[in-house]
Amino acid sequence: SKYTIVDKETCIACGACGSAAPEIFDYDDEGISYVISDNNQGTSQIPEELHDDLADACDGCPTDSIKIGDTPFHVLN
Ligand code: F3S
Repeated sequence: SKYTIVDKETCIACGACGSAAPEIFDYDDEGISYVISDNNQGTSQIPEELHDDLADACDGCPTDSIKIGDTPFHVLN
């Protein structure tokens, strides 16, 4: 299983992740990215068919703001 969460403190609203993985990431009013499926709580499993997009988004983020884990994240942000 894979889970993901955006560190909104370090995201600089570059917009790359939503291009790489439009089914996973969207942007708030300030252009800061968040995970659509769980409102950036990091608790919903990312479907298998989106794992390649997720990896691309993570690799492409200039500030390493996209975190990926094998278990759910529990931090609130
Ligand atoms: Fe932010 Fe990185 Fe996406 S800077 S907009 S999380 S590519």
